[in-house]
Amino acid sequence: MSDPQPVYLSDYQPPAYQVTHTELTFDLDPAATRVKARLLIERNENVDAQTPLVLNGEQLSLVSLAIDGTPLAEADYQLDEDSLRIMQVPATFSLESEVDIAPGANTALEGLYQSSGMYCTQCEAEGFRRITFYPDRPDVMATFTVTVIGDQNNEPVLLANGNPVDSGTLENGRHFVKWEDPHPKPCYLFALVAGDLHKVEDHFSTMSGRDVTLQIWVEKENLDKTEHAMASLKRSMVWDEQTYGREYDLDLFMIVAVNDFNMGAMENKGLNIFNSAAVLTHPNTATDATFQNVEGIVAHEYFHNWSGNRVTCRDWFQLSLKEGFTVFRDQCFSADTNSAPVKRIQDVSFFRTAQFAEDAGPTAHPVRPDHYIEITNFYTLTIYEKGAEVVRMLCNLVGWENFRQGADAYFERFDGQAVTIEDFVGCMEEASGQTLDQFMRWYAQAGTPEIDAHGEYDYVHSEYRLTLRQRTPATPGQTEKQPLHIPVRMGLVGTKSGQDLTLTMAGEVLGKDAVIHLRDNEQTFVFTDVAEAPVPSLLRDFSAPVKLYFPYSREELAFLLTHDSDGFNRWDAGQRLAMLALDDLIAAHRNGVEKVMDGRVTEAFRTLLTSSVSDKAVLAEMLTLPSEAYIAEQQPIVDVDAIHAAREFVRQSLALALRDEFVATFEANRSEEAYAPTSEQIAQRSLKNIALSYLMSIEDEQAIAFCQAQFAADHNMTDVRYALTLLVHSERDDVSSPALKAFGEKWAHDSLVMDQWFTIQVTRPQPDVLERVEFLMQHPAFSIKNPNKVRALVGAFTQNRVNFHRLDGKGYALLADVVIELNRLNPEIAARLVTPLTRWQRFDEARQALMHAQLERIKKEPLSSNVYEVVEKALA
Ligand code: PHE
Ligand code: ZN
Repeated sequence: MSDPQPVYLSDYQPPAYQVTHTELTFDLDPAATRVKARLLIERNENVDAQTPLVLNGEQLSLVSLAIDGTPLAEADYQLDEDSLRIMQVPATFSLESEVDIAPGANTALEGLYQSSGMYCTQCEAEGFRRITFYPDRPDVMATFTVTVIGDQNNEPVLLANGNPVDSGTLENGRHFVKWEDPHPKPCYLFALVAGDLHKVEDHFSTMSGRDVTLQIWVEKENLDKTEHAMASLKRSMVWDEQTYGREYDLDLFMIVAVNDFNMGAMENKGLNIFNSAAVLTHPNTATDATFQNVEGIVAHEYFHNWSGNRVTCRDWFQLSLKEGFTVFRDQCFSADTNSAPVKRIQDVSFFRTAQFAEDAGPTAHPVRPDHYIEITNFYTLTIYEKGAEVVRMLCNLVGWENFRQGADAYFERFDGQAVTIEDFVGCMEEASGQTLDQFMRWYAQAGTPEIDAHGEYDYVHSEYRLTLRQRTPATPGQTEKQPLHIPVRMGLVGTKSGQDLTLTMAGEVLGKDAVIHLRDNEQTFVFTDVAEAPVPSLLRDFSAPVKLYFPYSREELAFLLTHDSDGFNRWDAGQRLAMLALDDLIAAHRNGVEKVMDGRVTEAFRTLLTSSVSDKAVLAEMLTLPSEAYIAEQQPIVDVDAIHAAREFVRQSLALALRDEFVATFEANRSEEAYAPTSEQIAQRSLKNIALSYLMSIEDEQAIAFCQAQFAADHNMTDVRYALTLLVHSERDDVSSPALKAFGEKWAHDSLVMDQWFTIQVTRPQPDVLERVEFLMQHPAFSIKNPNKVRALVGAFTQNRVNFHRLDGKGYALLADVVIELNRLNPEIAARLVTPLTRWQRFDEARQALMHAQLERIKKEPLSSNVYEVVEKALA
């Protein structure tokens, strides 16, 4: 077999044939579902009449093929592993095909498959070709009519996109429902669901007064877990009307929860399919984080109805056109619905850890890649989150009003079309009158830009000179980088007044908070009339996805921590201050020198704890130290043990020095109120629990008693899980084991809670974790075929840095074993799971060798194109 070959953006050609209408009939059966398709096809203008019709098709057994009712002879077509070629076709015709597929044997979870006995589909990006022969590309858009036939007992509910238009009973206990979707769509938005499902129904009246029926379909035992998703859906619908003027366009909107799903959720037209973990919530089973995550994902999928479905992508290189924009939209929605500063802090903190790592590794790619082997490998943090940062910059550059006008033009002009990133940015250029040529480089260049900043205050002339220098490190296949247009939002905080000073540049008064534009490799910005020496507050609200270095002293950071008017930068000053202390401690650990806590960090924390920061959610974030993963990102060579030791040392030092303050914070924020996922309650719980985690870092009797009491009180899953995690991650097996056992027994029936039970155990720092992972993989609640289980157990283990990176290499070997097994069952998940091994170059020589060896071992297997692409890049 030859190696899989890449596809190039520069090779894009418009389709030779369009499908104008698609009629499908499914006769469901686990081993042989018969799929009949009738496609109305037209040759596009200027296409030669001799051009063959080429359709994608994989793992289909062809039963029959006809054009305009006339069966094709074998000589009329060519069939191979992944395509069907018909040599000669009329200019307009209907193609009738029948194929058999086996959903019961589909473990890849792409195309039509079974999950907990029900049928469901996943077609993005290229799953539709496992359902029927079709031009499986997003620039072919058709209206769909779909008939689903199933067993009345096993599949009482039969769903597809659009509106139900007919239904009835058939022979042999079978029945059917026929669905019509009037909006032309690419086949990746096709969906079908069939099974023993139950619904919760509600209604929404749109801004033009139309009534939309809202349904959430779940397994019967989950009917009490849909309330939050439904409320989130309604909030999203209102928000998109008010913020973007976008109204829903069908009479029915359905969400279905399925247990086996590769991703979070999918925006199929009118029939969103969700991973049950991304939609089901109940105070007793889901944490605050899950509630917020569900809200965000429900919004994200709903928003896709316009940014993705009505206006879609011309080709998969444009994936960020829909994903970056939609993530930006859901981020803004969550910020408006909850605490905006906290949302930003959490998003950026995740982004700087995970996306920066991706952008610095062997799979780094631009927001718009120019080639790929396997598109499912490109549903990445770069496409989604960096893409969203780019759209955010765009919005800030042109201003909200222009951005909204540009978005209106985009939705109106390109409605029903498959378009490109240029089309989107073009609308913004038009609306704002700005030229965004240089800005477009953000889409083309991979790697995280770094800015070196330094400033000087000139007392004599009352001037502050700020010099910024940018450079983007080389990434695979891209050695030369052009300077980017980087918007830097900033202020100058007066060291005497503690206030933002007025910014004046070249005689122009910019205000107290302004954006300066770095476009060259190096630029100096001169601020005049600066009355007192300032500390610069740079990159406020993380105005660009870059690393910004400024030689702040610890005193300056402590000053910004209390005085910066930008909440995000106050938090960031705290993170930078903690990082400086952590750096020293990491060095001390490596050199075998005694560790000494930086008193300035302790004092900063004391101030935070006592000076009543009014926003509890922000305070909780400020009290959170940079994660081990984030600290690792800052090190030239990652020393997992030193990082862990240094961070634990800081936690314990703070707990010892500020014990009374933490106890007071913990006690002041306990509450008997009935659980609600409100911002206020979530903030209070976060603050209480972070205080508890510091107290538990010294594991004294009082802290243990607090945890045990919180666990036993069983007030809500957030508090229970937090307390349980602290107990299980402690050295105290006498208290940890009974709690873990009790929890496991109590929730044995609830698969999503058992996922949490897995994760809690395999993220503990104690050295028995690897054996636990091996043991738990045999647990009846675990299944390698379920992506959530794999993530909760194996994925979580790889995030347990001290244990995954054990020096005997057993962590790496375990991961490789699982990747090799999954490569056969579910290549998409296998390719994602292997990621930690691909970062081998970041570690010391011994670990490098061990990781490399496991990659080589994987490479010897007969690999899916998914795993092949990732491993190949990692070893290049
Ligand atoms: N398009 C989905 C989303 O972003 C993600 C997804 C991709 C789901 C591919 C399944 C498969 O909402
Ligand atoms: Zn999306």
